[in-house]
Amino acid sequence: MPSDIQPEPLSVFSRLLRASGVQSRRPGRGRERQPEERGPARAGRVICVASGKGGTGKSFMATNLAAMRAKAGERVLLIDFDAGMANAHLMLGLNPKYDLGDVMARRVSVEDALVEGSSGLQLLSGGVGRRDLAQPTRRELDRLFDLLSLQEERFDLIVIDHGAGLGYGTLTQLAATRCLLLVTNPEVTALSDAYALYKQVLAVNDHLRVGLVVNRAPDETVALDAWGRFRGVSKRFLQRSPEYLGWVPADRAVYDSVQQRSPVCLAAPESASARSLRALASWQAITAAPTGGSFFTRARKALR
Ligand SMILES: Nc1ncnc2c1ncn2[C@@H]1O[C@H](COP(=O)(O)OP(=O)(O)O)[C@@H](O)[C@H]1O
Ligand SMILES: [Mg+2]
Repeated sequence: MPSDIQPEPLSVFSRLLRASGVQSRRPGRGRERQPEERGPARAGRVICVASGKGGTGKSFMATNLAAMRAKAGERVLLIDFDAGMANAHLMLGLNPKYDLGDVMARRVSVEDALVEGSSGLQLLSGGVGRRDLAQPTRRELDRLFDLLSLQEERFDLIVIDHGAGLGYGTLTQLAATRCLLLVTNPEVTALSDAYALYKQVLAVNDHLRVGLVVNRAPDETVALDAWGRFRGVSKRFLQRSPEYLGWVPADRAVYDSVQQRSPVCLAAPESASARSLRALASWQAITAAPTGGSFFTRARKALR
């Protein structure tokens, strides 16, 4: 670290920079209110879960976070945006009939593509092995974001599980978000890719809170050492750093829970990993992430 990554074309960045200037305010939660009591365009909070490298535990984090917040009584939508390589449905023991690709092609409505999972969370699956989803065009993304924007006020919290790295779809959403959970492992390869992603996101979005979690660490010393290195490099080269949210141990209970198709926070709530996850799920930025503006409308602007 730092390892520089391929720069995106300048035109894309300047569009994103312009779009990320759109601000929303008004913190607050709408959980207890009925839809008719809420004012118009009160959108749910959004948290994006991303990492530079693949396999760091994004889907593990996103499914558990969504399940815990749903269990606490929030209306939660989990969107598996690892389009074409989705696996959140497997971790939740669900068998969705439709996915993002069907919605994008207007074969079904968003509502018809949702499946209900653990604790009442709703999942919009990403589809498995579909080429049309792997590299959607700008027009396709625009249509998809438009349809998703209509869903925002039905939920208190939307958790978006991204694929590894910064594809165009991910970059435009990260330009729009106010809250990003950056997942890394303690190895230098994962840290380096996480740093590269962090740097690129800051270039297109100056209005977000970023929390970093070190997942699959053998012990706390290793996790803190990884965090220390990430923080040092970020401070030195970017003059800022994410918030450290903690670490999650490499835990046999996670393997068992995936085999059981149930999030570890529900399958083994007293396991070491579930205890760490509970602390992450109460990150103040998730609750405080501003509502009022539409995340997917900002993401649509970032496409232009
Ligand atoms: N803390 C952990 N302990 C043990 N296994 C883990 C842990 N976190 C993730 N895994 C496992 O690692 C694999 C990759 O995780 P996943 O969430 O699919 O990664 P990503 O979505 O970043 O590609 C999965 O099989 C998952 O169950
Ligand atoms: Mg994943």
